[in-house]
Amino acid sequence: MKKYLPFCFLFFISCANQQSTQIASEEKEQHRPLFHFTPEANWMNDPNGMVFHNNTYHLFYQYYPDSTVWGPMHWGHATSTDLVRWTHKPIALFPDSLGYIFSGSAVADINNTSGFGKNGKVPLISIFTHHDTAGEKAGRSTYQYQSIAYSLDDGETWTKYASNPVLKNPGIKDFRDPKVAWHEPTKKWIMTLATLDRITFYSSPNLKDWQKESEFGDKVGAHGGVWECPDLFPLKHDGKEVWVLLVSINPGGPNGGSATQYFTGSFDGHTFTPLQTDTRWIDYGPDNYAGVTWSGTGERKIFLGWMSNWQYANLVPTLKWRSALTVPRDLSLQNIGDKYYISSRPSPELKELEGENIVITDNKGKLEGGAKLRITTDKLADFSITLSNDSAQKTVIGFDKTANHYYIDRTVSGKTSFEKGFASRTTAPRVAVTDSADITLLIDVASVELFADKGVTVMTGIFFPGKDYTDLAIETKEKLKNIILTKLKHIQ
Ligand code: FRU
Repeated sequence: MKKYLPFCFLFFISCANQQSTQIASEEKEQHRPLFHFTPEANWMNDPNGMVFHNNTYHLFYQYYPDSTVWGPMHWGHATSTDLVRWTHKPIALFPDSLGYIFSGSAVADINNTSGFGKNGKVPLISIFTHHDTAGEKAGRSTYQYQSIAYSLDDGETWTKYASNPVLKNPGIKDFRDPKVAWHEPTKKWIMTLATLDRITFYSSPNLKDWQKESEFGDKVGAHGGVWECPDLFPLKHDGKEVWVLLVSINPGGPNGGSATQYFTGSFDGHTFTPLQTDTRWIDYGPDNYAGVTWSGTGERKIFLGWMSNWQYANLVPTLKWRSALTVPRDLSLQNIGDKYYISSRPSPELKELEGENIVITDNKGKLEGGAKLRITTDKLADFSITLSNDSAQKTVIGFDKTANHYYIDRTVSGKTSFEKGFASRTTAPRVAVTDSADITLLIDVASVELFADKGVTVMTGIFFPGKDYTDLAIETKEKLKNIILTKLKHIQ
């Protein structure tokens, strides 16, 4: 049949075909973030095993390479030397006879306490949860336990320890997500582990033999869901050392679904003693979960979270891959009244992405891809920042003075029907008490990150407009002091 068709018709078909392949691949890539980490294809959730070693930031992540929905967990791997541009690496850890490879951490064992090091080569050790689906199906409560693997080639290849697991399950159904760090005063490794509704601390001289130290969290903090993905680290503030404990919880976040709470306190190598009694969240937005910090960065603490929410993570309308991570954020402490608050700010390395400033006229500017908006005011009053396209789809970020809260409103942001709770207006109480305020927004094609008041109130939200937003418009009750909108370069 085909050979009888006139040439012009064949030409038309071939152009049409070409066009449709192009459209199909564009559709596949629609909503692909421009400066946030995403897997090239398929499913990703929590960041894992973040370790800085030999001038390289390693990022591992919960990965299912065979589908865009959650499944048998592997550890995907990527590396960066600047926290901005990432190189995708082969999968680091595959499921095995002990189970799926759930979340965990990694450390550089510089003193070779584990004995895995050879010929002076520092071993990288990953400590993760094995999740045994057979045990789960059989109704046992002991199907999660902790195992280790080591790498002698800077994370390229990994060998699982022959005597895994290193920490057996004592009969607690949710027993996972080990975060391990060296505690110099006691010269021991400390494992911070999520154990159902609390944190259990273990110690070890060699990463292989673990001893229980204490528990924290029974009836303290938020308990609307299971505790997951903890992190424990000190932050220096005004010459004092304050310990921070991060605990992700799902569900039960301040705006529903999953979120990460934090506690400030002290830690002596055995016990965590909290300083605060109120519940605090490192990010009040709907889309920052399971975030932890890099190991191996000394006193500097760099945090990264999964930019999604278990409420709809498996349903978001991206075709080729699912989920992105937040930008890296530097954590520090700030005093407000007599309390310590975590301040999260975009890591300084991200400055590298900044391009030229976008012209702002009558508080309006054009968006072409990624952008950073900074506004400052001497007198904080109601304001709103609207990101929109010409299909009347918009996401509004703002402050409501009467309610004293920041908000992200994505009720008419574009595609929202994939899950009934997605079209939400989420809020975050303002904790700063100053008249003046500073706001930074990082705007990508499918997300916004709001850092208010030097990062003590943070909100992260994702959205899926039918067409990318092209317009930014600010409305405000009081004149703003500065509005600077800067283009951000693309990394992918
Ligand atoms: C958190 C979490 C972890 C678990 C992993 C499984 O998002 O549920 O507790 O280890 O995801 O993928």
